[in-house]
Amino acid sequence: MKTLPEQAKGFAHGKIILMGEHAVVYGEPAIALPFRATPVEVTIEKIATPNRIISSYYQGLLCEAPRSLNNLSILIKTICNDLNQSSDHLSITITSSIPAERGMGSSAAVATALVRALFTYYDEQLDASHLLNYVDLSEKIAHGNPSGIDARVTSSDVPIFYQKGSVFEPFTLNIAGYLIASDTGVQGQTRQTVKDVADQVKRSPDQTMVIIKRLGRLTLQAKEAIEKNQEVTLGKLMTQAHELLRQLNVSNDLLDQLVETALSHGALGAKLTGGGRGGCMIALTRTKKEAELVSNKLMEQGAVNTWIHALGADNEG
Ligand code: MEV
Repeated sequence: MKTLPEQAKGFAHGKIILMGEHAVVYGEPAIALPFRATPVEVTIEKIATPNRIISSYYQGLLCEAPRSLNNLSILIKTICNDLNQSSDHLSITITSSIPAERGMGSSAAVATALVRALFTYYDEQLDASHLLNYVDLSEKIAHGNPSGIDARVTSSDVPIFYQKGSVFEPFTLNIAGYLIASDTGVQGQTRQTVKDVADQVKRSPDQTMVIIKRLGRLTLQAKEAIEKNQEVTLGKLMTQAHELLRQLNVSNDLLDQLVETALSHGALGAKLTGGGRGGCMIALTRTKKEAELVSNKLMEQGAVNTWIHALGADNEG
């Protein structure tokens, strides 16, 4: 029998959906990038007492954790069962710099880091497809009907082009430019917005599917713009995507205001990212200086945090 270590760690990071959120749930393509500025670390330690969890959100016994952490409890039980290990006497510490519920993939990133930490702790090999199966399971509990994109990009080192049901493709962001991600400070509602879009599809299928298909087309055009290093075109496509997401009723006043602010201060394009109705928005600029200006203006208009990300840097991943 293996001797278990005192401690093991697992890592992951946040994500940004550049194009295709919501439409990706309906089989349309999406482009997403790993967001290394927001890392997550999970540490597993052996303890004598029952499982406990330590995070900024909750500290205490795992069996008394709020329902919103059910995905993690079930994940731990499932993995321990699959590995023939007892699921007791674990201390799980989550250190995350991803703001929760902001469309940056917090739940998928925590699940990814947790799965990696558990497999390291039990000294078991973990291949990419098993990792994804576990994170998909966790995301289904957290979000109801996820497309799977968050699970894939929070464990990926490179940007991806993803379409549900197909193998995801690593995708080089062959484009100069800076992406500003900006946090509204308002908790997004991915589970709710995904459900509301589903209700809209049921209520008015033709009209809603036209919007969803258009979003898919914009993603394909964005892929082409990236491949040809056409940042102005990419910016325009992002802004058009925001308008369609508004028509899907997943934006809100603050997101619209931040998009307007970015555009009126020189951004090439701007849109919400992730589930919407809160959470984050992104804007594209040509230079770092322009990105800094837009970032300052977004903070003046109510954003609580911004990150500037050099898109070309993804090519080094
Ligand atoms: C959430 O980050 C992205 C959505 O498209 C939902 C999903 O793909 O599961 C809104």
